[in-house]
Parts: sequence; structure tokens; C-alpha cells
Amino acid sequence: MIVVTGATGTIGRPLVGALAAAGERVTAVSRRPVDAGLPEGVRHHRADLAEAGSLRPALDGADALFLLLSGEMLLDGGGEAPGALLDVAKAGGVRRVVLLSSQATGTRPDALSHARLRAFEEAVRHSGLDWTILRPSGFHTNAFGWAEPVRTRRTVAAPFGDVALPTVDPADLAEVAATVLRNGGRPGASGPHDGRTYVLTGPEPVSPREQAAALGAALGEPVAFVELSREAARGHLLSVMPEAVVDGTLDILGTPTAAERQVSPDAERLLGRPATGFAEWARRNAAAFR
Ligand SMILES: NC(=O)c1ccc[n+]([C@@H]2O[C@H](COP(=O)([O-])OP(=O)(O)OC[C@H]3O[C@@H](n4cnc5c(N)ncnc54)[C@H](OP(=O)(O)O)[C@@H]3O)[C@@H](O)[C@H]2O)c1
Repeated sequence: MIVVTGATGTIGRPLVGALAAAGERVTAVSRRPVDAGLPEGVRHHRADLAEAGSLRPALDGADALFLLLSGEMLLDGGGEAPGALLDVAKAGGVRRVVLLSSQATGTRPDALSHARLRAFEEAVRHSGLDWTILRPSGFHTNAFGWAEPVRTRRTVAAPFGDVALPTVDPADLAEVAATVLRNGGRPGASGPHDGRTYVLTGPEPVSPREQAAALGAALGEPVAFVELSREAARGHLLSVMPEAVVDGTLDILGTPTAAERQVSPDAERLLGRPATGFAEWARRNAAAFR
């Protein structure tokens, strides 16, 4: 049985769907009850990952755990030490853990914004469990933050209009996670993904200005792009995120490292097909911007 945390979120929902469709037994975990839409046969368990012990009852019969820490949990810095969650998983019989991390834990080893996620990576590596770490770049779905101004004014306002990064489709991340979770080793033997850290990006770099144009193409109407200064963007972001996270995010968007600009081959290799580009994502999600 596979336990999926973050099961009602952007990645968790399609991951639960993919695992259930492949015939896996799945327990979906989130704090709130599920309003709708879990596939038939999927058990739901309410737990708060900030209290490691609350995960314990979800683990009965589990052999693999997909561990996703919400942005909120990583920003708070609250909750128990990361090792506590891994200890609970191990005591509950889990043999394998797949952690959803972030590319920046590798590219920005000193960034305060990713310190807690780095601590979770360390805890996973030292857990004694078989492990795989997924390090995605920024998500295509962050563009949903532009849905209201695109709907009402056909405008995207963002900083660093011409800095292109290879953003990734969370649906691809869910598919990769399902593949990794379903292909563990037999008891006592290691599997093909054990001890691996995969960097998961989209198929090509795309700038905010190009994203606005892709949304326009998907809608069949032009979408204007307005470039914000770093300071103006910082002001907006400070109303929703702590300062260290805002500055860490703006550093990546404005002055990406060479590694952050690069397309990684890992997603295509694990998917067995090219990763989904932003333009295709925009066509699939045009209704949210209409
Ligand atoms: N956005 C990006 O560009 C980007 C890039 C790289 C990495 N990431 C990483 O992606 C992760 C976010 O994934 P996502 O977008 O799929 O998340 P999401 O859509 O915000 O969903 C979060 C999920 O976690 C559950 N959850 C939240 N707090 C919880 C808690 N304390 N205990 C148990 N469950 C909890 C939520 O349900 P309830 O609220 O009901 O509990 C929900 O199911 C973060 O770790 C982030 O660092 C994001």
C-alpha cells in the first residue's frame, strides 16, 4: 500500500489518481476532509504532518510513502524535527520514501528560503529507508496567480519579463512520482530509483513575457505583459510570504544560476516522452483564464 501526503493538492490529486488507475492500494492524507473526487477504493486519512504521530494510523499496511510538505508548513518552520516524521514512517512499516523537494535545495545550498526543505532531504537520506528525492523547478501552475488579471484585463504583470526558466507541469511530476513509487526493489534488494535525486524541469526555458503570449494564444486573444520592478514585486509577495522566502524566490526568478536555466533530462527519461511545455499546459488550462 502507498501512502500519499499532500493528497488533495496540485501534485497529490493527480498522483493519487494515477496510482489508483494502475491498481495500487492508496491511502490519501491531508488535514481537511476530502470534499470530492477521490477515486473509488482510495482510503482518506486526516493527519497534520506538523504532528508526526498523527500520521501513524495512516500507515497500517503501508510499504511506500510519498512525502510532500506544503509551502505553508515549510514557511512556518513549525512542527517537529524532520527526522520525527521519518521515524514514525519507519516504525509504521514503511520501507520506501519518495520526497517532493525543490531544485533550489541543490542550486542554492545557503538560501534561508529552502533551509527547512534541505533538512527534510537530510532526514530522508539518513532515515535508513530506501529513498528517492524529486527536485522540481518552478511549476507551470504558478501562472494561476495571473488568472484574475488575465480574465478581467487580459494582462500579466510580473518581474524579470525576459528571464527564461524551464518551468515544469505538476501533472508530469505526479506521473514521475507514480512511476518511482510503483518501481521499488523487492524486499532486501534495491530498486532502480533508490538513492537517486532527480531534477525535474519542463522541456524548454520560458520567460514571463512568453508565458503571457502563450496564454494569449490559448485564449485566442492577446494578453499584454507589464514588467514590474523587483521592488514592486517584492511588495506584492511580502503580503503572502515571509521575507526570506520572497527574497529567495526573486533571486531565482531574476538571477537564476546556470543550473536553474538548464533543462534536465530526468523528466523525459522517467516519463518516456517529452515533458509538457508551458504552451501545452496553457491550452489545457485555458478555461481558468477565460
Ligand atoms: N510551486 C512551485 O513552483 C514549487 C517548485 C518546487 C517545489 N515546490 C514544492 O511543492 C510543494 C507544494 O506542492 P503542491 O503545490 O502540490 O501543494 P498544494 O497544492 O498547496 O497542496 C498542499 C497539500 O498538502 C496538504 N497539507 C497542507 N498542510 C498540511 C499539513 N500540515 N499536514 C498534512 N497535510 C497538509 C493540503 O491539504 P490540507 O490543507 O487539507 O491539509 C494539500 O493536500 C512544496 O513542498 C513546495 O516547496 C513548489
